[in-house]
Amino acid sequence: MALRIRSIEWKENKVIIVNQLKLPTEIEYIECTTPERVVEAIKNMEIRGAPAIGAAAAYALALAAIRSNAKSRKEFLKEIYEVAEKLKSTRPTAINLFWAINRVLKSAERAGESIEKIVMTIVDEAKKIAEEDIRANKLIGKHGAKLIEDGDCILTHCNTGSLATVDYGTALGIIRAAVEEGKKIHVYVTETRPKLQGARLTALELKYENIPVTVICDGMVGYIMQEELVNKVFVGADRILRMGHVINKIGTYTIAVLAKYHNIPFYVAAPTSTFDLKNSLDQIKIEERSPEEVAFCGNMRVVPEGVNIFNPAFDVTPPQLITAIITEKGILETPLDRAIAKMFNL
Ligand code: MRU
Repeated sequence: MALRIRSIEWKENKVIIVNQLKLPTEIEYIECTTPERVVEAIKNMEIRGAPAIGAAAAYALALAAIRSNAKSRKEFLKEIYEVAEKLKSTRPTAINLFWAINRVLKSAERAGESIEKIVMTIVDEAKKIAEEDIRANKLIGKHGAKLIEDGDCILTHCNTGSLATVDYGTALGIIRAAVEEGKKIHVYVTETRPKLQGARLTALELKYENIPVTVICDGMVGYIMQEELVNKVFVGADRILRMGHVINKIGTYTIAVLAKYHNIPFYVAAPTSTFDLKNSLDQIKIEERSPEEVAFCGNMRVVPEGVNIFNPAFDVTPPQLITAIITEKGILETPLDRAIAKMFNL
């Protein structure tokens, strides 16, 4: 039987997170009873993946709401906004984080005067965000599976599965849906530097579902394309801009350039909550993480002490390299700027 690990759940007024830093060797559940613990989990990547951190932030606000002892609406909202600021400072690139926080804050503002009512509204909104994500992923899977044929060899990057979302996954959800339709496919997954999300998490999810998977190092992508071992690429996104630029895990751009050179279709899968219709490319902050992540392999130092390390977590793939974007509302074809404008009625 296929086994799927759910990244996050709201249970008995607690946020239960599977600790992604312990996978694949150990399944450890973290019970978060305070919003601060969720902030920490997002920061240190115990939970990661754009939609999953959005849901985590929403649930953190729900925790803040149920724990509050505020006596007035003003005092209560002040506390909630303070937690929202802490959450916003965790990771700057994935827009789902900001989208989910703003959505919960808006619902709180509109909930009226009674603190009890606002608490209920916040908890309900957080649950809705999580449930909607699962529904969106299933639809992304349904639309995207049409692009997969029996016998395809697919390359994916990072982890876009049930661990990166609330459940099911985006790019990995499409692969899942195609397999559920009876298509036989093989998946190549990059190990994904520096956290090894592909090797540790995607490989585990595919193994659980008995979907054939081969892990490669990030530097092997060109070789496997040259050897014609893959014929399609599916990746996720942390933010998609109005003109069709896709910001995703570092290494995505390299894969897209190589796919273009080898005439391999390059697909991006993401829910509409990942679109940023306001900001332009120069306003986007690419997260830069600690040099330690590159300097060490487990506990072993692999870069000499004192050597400079650059560790950006994401890169930008321009629209010219993207074949199509799959959302819960359907497939966006090129030109992407026009397709995005149409989808959002701009
Ligand atoms: O740094 P991470 O692991 O949070 O980055 C994750 C990615 O880049 C994913 O591709 C993206 O969030 C989409 S997940 C459905």
